Amino acid sequence: MNYKIPKDFKIGANMPAWQVEGGSNKLEGHLHFPDLMYRAYPERWFNGYGPTKACEHYERYEEDIKLLKETGCKQIRFNPDWSRFIKDFETGEVNEEEATHYHNVIQCYLDNGIEPIICLEHWELPAYYYEHYDGYASRKVVDMYVKYAKEVFTRYGHMVKQFYTFNEPIVIPQLCFMDGFWWPYGNDTKHAMNWIHGKIVASAKAIACYRELNLDGKIGMIINPAFIYARSDANPQDKKAKEIADSLYWGAFMDTAIKGEYPKLLLDILKKENCMFDYEEADFEIIRQNTIDILGLNYYQPLRVKEAEYVWNSENFHLKKYYSEWDMPGKRMNPYRGWEIYPKALYDAALRIRDEYGNIEWVVAESGMGVENEEIYRDEAGMIVDDYRINYIKEHLAWLLKAVEEGCNCKGYWLFAGMDNCSPLNAFKNRYGLIEIDLENNRQRKLKKSAYFYKDMIQSGEFEF
Ligand code: BG6
Repeated sequence: MNYKIPKDFKIGANMPAWQVEGGSNKLEGHLHFPDLMYRAYPERWFNGYGPTKACEHYERYEEDIKLLKETGCKQIRFNPDWSRFIKDFETGEVNEEEATHYHNVIQCYLDNGIEPIICLEHWELPAYYYEHYDGYASRKVVDMYVKYAKEVFTRYGHMVKQFYTFNEPIVIPQLCFMDGFWWPYGNDTKHAMNWIHGKIVASAKAIACYRELNLDGKIGMIINPAFIYARSDANPQDKKAKEIADSLYWGAFMDTAIKGEYPKLLLDILKKENCMFDYEEADFEIIRQNTIDILGLNYYQPLRVKEAEYVWNSENFHLKKYYSEWDMPGKRMNPYRGWEIYPKALYDAALRIRDEYGNIEWVVAESGMGVENEEIYRDEAGMIVDDYRINYIKEHLAWLLKAVEEGCNCKGYWLFAGMDNCSPLNAFKNRYGLIEIDLENNRQRKLKKSAYFYKDMIQSGEFEF
């Protein structure tokens, strides 16, 4: 079947700072949170690769942006590294050399006919703010974030027309402070909720600041809400489990960002379990008044749940007291990464955004297929022949375009990622890029087959699937 891409639907890709830039030329002490995760246990990162070198994009941005132009991308979402951008973490004074660097990066995108989109934070919370203030749990850090946001808006707001406050803001609080999955392996739901609430307030205050500056553009947040399916919608226990999981993993950020309020169910549970976050009375009004113009939505795989399987008898409350993950028989797996592939979830989410969230404008801000050992899938000329990724892109776009036809307000799709890059722990194990990074060979860049497909699809405005 032939799929036509509407003219106002923009296709692009992602270049997140800490995952591509590398940091060997940073000032002493200017680490970010992923640097801390790496330094705590470098041996747990795949082959010891970490953010220190990443793709060396900081030094090679001109070469990279020229290559991104070759992929046909119309928009690239990137971000300044907050821990570089600030010279003095106590006062928030800007490092002018770094600010000039990012100005040059933006200009380079514009010169190459690519619209740069800025997300303020892709987990690059300066390590200083974690070590001295416990990150977003502290109002000092919230204020410093807003100060940083204002500097970015003021300096680049005439060149960049779409800003996002955070990328996947739930991930660090959830995995590092609640699930005990990543360093520092915390199991404290209230602590995680303090981070979550701090980020929600920080985002709302940054949005207020953006609006006060009267810039001509849009501001949003990039959320990775869990796309949750119950084992059985006919089973009330499964349905309840889904509702509860949804109140945090979908609702905490989606509802506050778009509707300006927390899901009542979530607040009730947190209070009942003595895990209600710390707040100031004014917070709720600030959140209510400063909702987003545009939503970025990241999606990789759905979350399937059923009623809680075990009796929760740990002293540390976790929402899993109320639900268990469900391993659906026969689900379609990505054989190269071990994540489920379920593109219809994008369609389901699109309808939900249309029907429950006022049909707010949104984009798919991340979607992509990770592939282990990808370097072996080459043609005679040495190009990686990633037909699986081309298929992945097509099937996700097909569901999305069906939703657009049904009145959903989705205006774009940004692949994760522009180039292979460094993930938390998995580092370069699973490759995601349109552009290959050859780690064995001076991090040489090379277009994959998907890059040529991308260009062709974007230029022609259509694809066959
Ligand atoms: C996404 C994250 O959820 O997963 C990215 O937003 C990450 O930062 C990506 O790189 C892929 O993860 P992995 O573990 O497959 O490399």
